[in-house]
Amino acid sequence: MVKTTKIMKKEYKTIDLFAGVGGIRLGFEKAGFKTAYANDFNKNCKNTYDVNHKEPKLHVEDINKLEIKQLPEFDILLGGFPCQPFSIAGYRQGFKDDKDRGNLFFRIADIIRERKPRAIMLENVKNLKGHDNGNTFKVIEKTLKEIGYHLKAEVLNGMTHGNVPQNRERIFIVGFLDKVKAEAFKFPEPIKLTKSFREFVAEEAEDKYYYNNKPLYEKIKNDINSEHIVYQWRRKYVRANKKGVVPTLTANMGRGGHNVPIIKNSKGIRKLTPKECFMLQGFPKTFKLPDDLPDTELYHQAGNSVVVPVVQRIAENIKIVLDGGRINPQKSLF
Ligand SMILES: C[S@@+](CC[C@H](N)C(=O)[O-])C[C@H]1O[C@@H](n2cnc3c(N)ncnc32)[C@H](O)[C@@H]1O
Repeated sequence: MVKTTKIMKKEYKTIDLFAGVGGIRLGFEKAGFKTAYANDFNKNCKNTYDVNHKEPKLHVEDINKLEIKQLPEFDILLGGFPCQPFSIAGYRQGFKDDKDRGNLFFRIADIIRERKPRAIMLENVKNLKGHDNGNTFKVIEKTLKEIGYHLKAEVLNGMTHGNVPQNRERIFIVGFLDKVKAEAFKFPEPIKLTKSFREFVAEEAEDKYYYNNKPLYEKIKNDINSEHIVYQWRRKYVRANKKGVVPTLTANMGRGGHNVPIIKNSKGIRKLTPKECFMLQGFPKTFKLPDDLPDTELYHQAGNSVVVPVVQRIAENIKIVLDGGRINPQKSLF
């Protein structure tokens, strides 16, 4: 009888900080990582998080109040930390942000310093790199390097790196304690966008999403004339997205303004539903949205999240180098 030796690959554990609804977790779990802990201080996130993820469920607590020693064992720290202080649309105050949100980076740094995970992945808005003439990013890099991490950072877009028709550019910072692994790590290569936004939108939607018979209808009806373009109402005019993809979904869409993307179909002119927004972030069709959360909250959660397949591809590459392998640049999930 031939004896076969089974190679046991290590199961890497992650902690999901600033977890929101768990978009980063989804990407990492699809790539084979196991989630050891998840945290966010917004209790509305828990409704969505807990109906979609197995154990561990979301621990609702301010990250500043966490006892770092009591976090379970983990190999990789994940965090899409709040982007308001760094975004063009935000306060442009970076670390000096009054509400202390900018300083959350230093809280992440404390956790990394104390627990020294093998790898980290942080996500933020593209503008993080340019904020305050590059000083914010320099501080982040310097802090992480001083703790002992070797870093790579790149801006990836959902439509060029995730085969998801959303123009969403985000910076990803990946770090390893081991220099050789950091050198071996590569961000995923661009892949062809084969999916049209029309594959993500339903033929029918509830009446409340349609503009027909609503005050805005008269102002937009002439400009929204193609079923193949996604539009946005920009306070005074309609903007057509020439690239034929959905513009960046934002956390405040659906609040006050009218910047939830708008489409036209045989039934009329309507905004995308929260479910469609989640799907345009690459969430699976099976992702559940709790009935007890208002649309404003669901749009907020969708816009705050990540393009899951982009994260999955980064996670795949992190896994390859942690396992001691080499990244094949042609490797693609799609
Ligand atoms: C950009 S969102 C991250 C969303 C997440 N990547 C996802 O896939 O849904 C940032 C998150 O940080 C959370 N947050 C902000 N300040 C926090 C704090 N002090 N403690 C814990 N969570 C915080 C917010 O509630 C928000 O869900």
